[in-house]
Amino acid sequence: MIRKFVRLIVLFIILSSSLLRADEGMWIPILIKKFNIEIMQEKGFKLSAEDIYSVNQASMKDAVMIFGGGCTADLISDQGLIITNHHCGYRPIQSHSTVDHDYLTNGFWAMSQEEELINPGLTVTFLKWMKDVTGEVLKGIEDGMSEEEMSDIKQENIDGIKKEAIEETHFTAQVKPFYYGNQYFLFVNETYKDIRLVGAPPSAIGKFGGDTDNWMWPRHTGDFSLFRIYAGKDNEPAEYSPDNVPFKPKKFFPISLKGTKPGDFTMVLGYPGSTYEYVPSFHLQMLTRDIYPELIDVRTKKLEIMQNAMEKSTELRIQYSAKAAGVSNSWKRWKGEIRGLDKLDAVIKKQEYEKRFMEWTGASSERNRKYGKLLERYEEVYDEIAPVRLGQSYLREVFFYNGVENISLASGFTKLVSMVGNDASPEEIDEVLESLRKRAASFFKDYDPATGDALAVAMLSMFDENVPEEYYPEEFRKIMEKYNRNYQTWIKKVRKKSLFMDEETLLSFLNSFKTSGVKKIKKDPIYMLVQSAGETYGKIHSEYGKLNQDLESLHRVYMKAQMEFEPDKLFYPDANFSLRVSYGEVLGYDPRDAVFYKHYTTLEGVIEKDNPEIYDYDVPDKLKELYLKKDYGRYSQDGKIPICFLATNHTTGGNSGSPVIDAEGNLIGLNFDRAWEGVMSDLMFNAGQCRNISLDIRYALFIIDKFAGAGYLLDEMTLVE
Ligand code: ARG
Ligand code: GLU
Repeated sequence: MIRKFVRLIVLFIILSSSLLRADEGMWIPILIKKFNIEIMQEKGFKLSAEDIYSVNQASMKDAVMIFGGGCTADLISDQGLIITNHHCGYRPIQSHSTVDHDYLTNGFWAMSQEEELINPGLTVTFLKWMKDVTGEVLKGIEDGMSEEEMSDIKQENIDGIKKEAIEETHFTAQVKPFYYGNQYFLFVNETYKDIRLVGAPPSAIGKFGGDTDNWMWPRHTGDFSLFRIYAGKDNEPAEYSPDNVPFKPKKFFPISLKGTKPGDFTMVLGYPGSTYEYVPSFHLQMLTRDIYPELIDVRTKKLEIMQNAMEKSTELRIQYSAKAAGVSNSWKRWKGEIRGLDKLDAVIKKQEYEKRFMEWTGASSERNRKYGKLLERYEEVYDEIAPVRLGQSYLREVFFYNGVENISLASGFTKLVSMVGNDASPEEIDEVLESLRKRAASFFKDYDPATGDALAVAMLSMFDENVPEEYYPEEFRKIMEKYNRNYQTWIKKVRKKSLFMDEETLLSFLNSFKTSGVKKIKKDPIYMLVQSAGETYGKIHSEYGKLNQDLESLHRVYMKAQMEFEPDKLFYPDANFSLRVSYGEVLGYDPRDAVFYKHYTTLEGVIEKDNPEIYDYDVPDKLKELYLKKDYGRYSQDGKIPICFLATNHTTGGNSGSPVIDAEGNLIGLNFDRAWEGVMSDLMFNAGQCRNISLDIRYALFIIDKFAGAGYLLDEMTLVE
């Protein structure tokens, strides 16, 4: 099937490549040569497919990596220097920040390699090579097998493929399904573990505009930070050691100072997380009607409480800013997705498509047998899964994600309780106590009792009002009944009774801990609530998992059917956090009637937004000075410092930090966001409205050189003028 589909696609490209102008798609690096390179070259790309991905020669894939858990980073020197977003480096930067060295607020710049800061746990992962292993994975699968049988066989095959691929190497292997399991690829990766912080601008640059400007254009955020990869003397991955040396890469990106204009070719290489482009209309209905509105309400409440607190004092602002940024990010995107899908009539478009699909299916008895019941079955499963998904999400929001905050602290005590129950040695227990002390310190550093209580009361009340009883944790039901739905009274009582409400109480408990203390933990109201919520969550999660498996197998069949239904269409696989290539061009757009958005912003706009009263818009004095003196060096275009630009590349979460490459293969920007009107692109792309937002690389260079005085870093880069 796949082979036939590939032949059809190749034929189609040859016949009608000029029809495929839209920039939608996240393409597979090893298939660029087959499917995309001609279109890319037609759009202006001057290099070859081997320049992007090759196993035999150094190629761009050797300069792009997964950064931490969910971002992308790019090599920009032959000494292991990498650049990613400020929001991707946020945690490491924060972890080095104290009141005396507030790197988040003031920025951090190593003035030599000796001054770079170590980040235990931070890694980067390179793709060494990849391969289509569909045949191997599906070996032994026969018609008529049950889902379980098939899944067992596939898993066994996958284990074998992975084992063989990395035998006698320090590499790791992954096999990922594409097109919902109609195709499989093997990825062999290499992970480096000594990654040091080199530089980060102040938040007033790196996070300029904060949550207000997030997902929006015009944008003026200098969203970048610099790190360096260190390796053992043999240039191979090594745990941190002072003897490690800067990593010597096969390939790094030269940086272009030439600037951009509308229509210029752009390419983004990176790790998009997940998209759902081929799901039926029921999926969009579920999200926009059943799930998002409820979650938006929950988060609106959280943000109201947090923002109210953050306006009260600097301390409160610091305590709640990272939490609020996290809560706000998806909250805002969900709203944008609802709006974007609505404006696109996405559900109606899908329904029309489904109608045509059913007509096509009905026209052949063979197809009718294979696909005739698909949509009916989909409807049933979506009807079943929607409330479960909502229950699961609600439970998470209230109990496990910035809702009743102390729960996250108490959940860490499960380990202590079970160790004591299993007669662990005093040394082992001491170790856990020590880690709990650390956990308590970091929890209370970012916790305000009044705000925490307000959040807890609001969240439990919303849970009570909006969630069907079948999803209530047992402890919650007891609280509801005992306190007659008055959660304010409950929290007052808990504040007096629980170990987990203030640092002093908890630390003195830990410091004088005896194994008999476990009884006290087990009877603690917060601890009891965690246990109970965790249990309920586990139950819902497995129920959801089963239904989701049903969906996944329907997706697999529907995907295959759609490819047969539209044999002339070039399908790109949904994102799955594997390396992808998207291409497009620099371009502005019309967000609404009578308004046109230019493709780039400048420092003038930063100054326009300057407002010392608002933390997120408080432009640093040094930057204002540079602006007044027009001390721009080589980094300006038409006398102005460029800040961000728009392009038509199809991107999603995970693409943060991805390199934006020009026609010659030089770095021109750093992807960090999408524009509001196009955030529904995870579900349906609209070429007229979907834009990725990138930092203009010249702004990063300007900040490093003129603002930070760390111009020595530019000496190791290759600048193209
Ligand atoms: N919207 C971007 C992304 O999805 C940036 C998020 C970080 N910034 C923020 N203000 N919360 O990751
Ligand atoms: N900021 C997102 C990230 O962290 C990228 C924006 C998007 O979703 O496209 O990956």
